[in-house]
Amino acid sequence: MTTWIIGNWKQNPATQQEAQQLVEQILEQIPQDLPNSHKLMVAPSNIHLMAVAKALQDSPILVSAQNISAHSDTTGAYTGDCSAQQVKDAGASWTLLGHSEQRQYHHENNDHLAQKICNAFLQDLGVIFCVGETLADYEQDQTLSVLDHQLSAFHQAFEQIASEEKNQFLQYIQDRMIIAYEPVWAIGTGKIPTIDEIDRVHQHIKTHLQTWITKISGQTPKLTVLYGGSVNPQNAPMLAQCPTIDGALIGGASLKPKDFLQIANQFFASKS
Ligand code: PGA
Repeated sequence: MTTWIIGNWKQNPATQQEAQQLVEQILEQIPQDLPNSHKLMVAPSNIHLMAVAKALQDSPILVSAQNISAHSDTTGAYTGDCSAQQVKDAGASWTLLGHSEQRQYHHENNDHLAQKICNAFLQDLGVIFCVGETLADYEQDQTLSVLDHQLSAFHQAFEQIASEEKNQFLQYIQDRMIIAYEPVWAIGTGKIPTIDEIDRVHQHIKTHLQTWITKISGQTPKLTVLYGGSVNPQNAPMLAQCPTIDGALIGGASLKPKDFLQIANQFFASKS
């Protein structure tokens, strides 16, 4: 199974020069012989996407966008948006979708997300799909039903895909889709759920999607589920030991190359 370590830079850093430095520092410190089963990825903001992708083009580090347009996978009159085709052209091979900050500040819902999933599929852009409950959901023991609702964006996308492309879409979900479980209350707070809680949620996510795919196609795919929310070098060894955690989506700590690579090394050592 592949282990994924992904840095979500959010709206950071402030300048092109700082983004360049960040890349250089990561490149200086990455292990030379990264096996194929150990994947590193960074998600810079769109303004830095092209420069970061260029600097990383001969390295094993993959590049992801943080979002794509729901309205069109190519071009159109959608001021402020950036399409799947455009981020791909800028050097991204993946995109984050459904991050809680997009859900919260841009009122992103399943209708938007189903469209975005379809657009990513049309451009063969991999998707890191973020799901997670709020503190209120968590306290009311609603986590699993909230996640089921968020995951139903895939069912909705499947309905929207043309019938002759449905099989290809199911294959795409198995090959080019990663789920990141990020409890909203754990993002940037220093708090994380217990390992047992994360394990239960990850198993639930895998079962939800596997049951759905098996029902339609008869195949039982292996699915990748990452944990995100306050991952740091101190808690990484504990998280990495849990078999249902296939890697990490890292915000704050990914802006510190030493911490980012320390977390990566801890996961890679644990999962090899
Ligand atoms: P954090 O952010 O690691 O700073 O908590 C994670 C994320 O939002 O992806």
